[in-house]
Amino acid sequence: MISKFISEIKKKKTLSSLPDAFVKKLIENYFQKYPKLEKFLKDHPKPLKSKEFKLMMKDLRKTLHDVYGIFVLRDKNLRHLKEHLAEIKEIDEGALQIHMDLLSTHKSSLERLNFYYQIYGEIFKHTGKPKSILDLACGLNPLSFPYMGLKKVDYFASELTDFDSEFIQEYFDLMKSFGLNGKAFAMDLLHAKDLPKVDVCFLFKTLDSLEDIERNYSKELIKKIPAKFLVVSFPTMSIGGKNPIKQRGWFFRIMRELGYKAETFEIENEVFYIIKNK
Ligand SMILES: C[S@@+](CC[C@H](N)C(=O)[O-])C[C@H]1O[C@@H](n2cnc3c(N)ncnc32)[C@H](O)[C@@H]1O
Repeated sequence: MISKFISEIKKKKTLSSLPDAFVKKLIENYFQKYPKLEKFLKDHPKPLKSKEFKLMMKDLRKTLHDVYGIFVLRDKNLRHLKEHLAEIKEIDEGALQIHMDLLSTHKSSLERLNFYYQIYGEIFKHTGKPKSILDLACGLNPLSFPYMGLKKVDYFASELTDFDSEFIQEYFDLMKSFGLNGKAFAMDLLHAKDLPKVDVCFLFKTLDSLEDIERNYSKELIKKIPAKFLVVSFPTMSIGGKNPIKQRGWFFRIMRELGYKAETFEIENEVFYIIKNK
């Protein structure tokens, strides 16, 4: 029964590449919250047609949209970048423009587009210039490489679906001769394991989504990351930029419990915490 629910929910185009296991977990959480609903749907002759299922689907699609569906990749610009890079030896103005066009297609990187030099300046002031980076739930952030001022770096990047991580890998392959030695992989961070050892790990605008699905999971995740420094960021305004988001008490509690102290800085609509790992 649950597999039918998963396929029905994934019929929405923006959610179609999500891993089944991820959607399944959400449905199970939903049934835990509304225990009678599971039995009701199980006994129903046509559960997919019931208004109870439709309501559940609406709720779950909204959650999935908030944690994932806003992430839509465009590969036309990537082809354009490929053609451009074939002709040049250094990242020039034209290549930077194509990077900007690509970064603009993801809400998170779009919001920090004008701040990328400042962000990496601040981060690397504390961490030193990294030789290796792990970017978890990376979105399109690996495409901000030209703003990092790094000549050579090993860059590991994870996204939720195969589709998205394959896109990032294509980008890495294009950029190899420019010092970006990248490996992209699909990983549901709620089941993170075997993470590579690196100098710096980015967890940009991601912990809120994980906490929405599994409270207190951030602590488990942070403990699993073998990086010398962690850089965690959060939006300071809600989606749409209308309302300020209140302080995240849970994050500071986790930091205290793990005995971590953080350096912090803020740009428009994003706050960063730089944490030295133990
Ligand atoms: C707000 S975006 C941030 C993207 C990127 N870190 C940035 O700041 O540019 C959150 C990202 O987390 C990913 N995501 C959400 N839940 C996830 C999970 N359980 N495992 C892995 N990635 C997840 C989404 O696909 C999305 O790209």
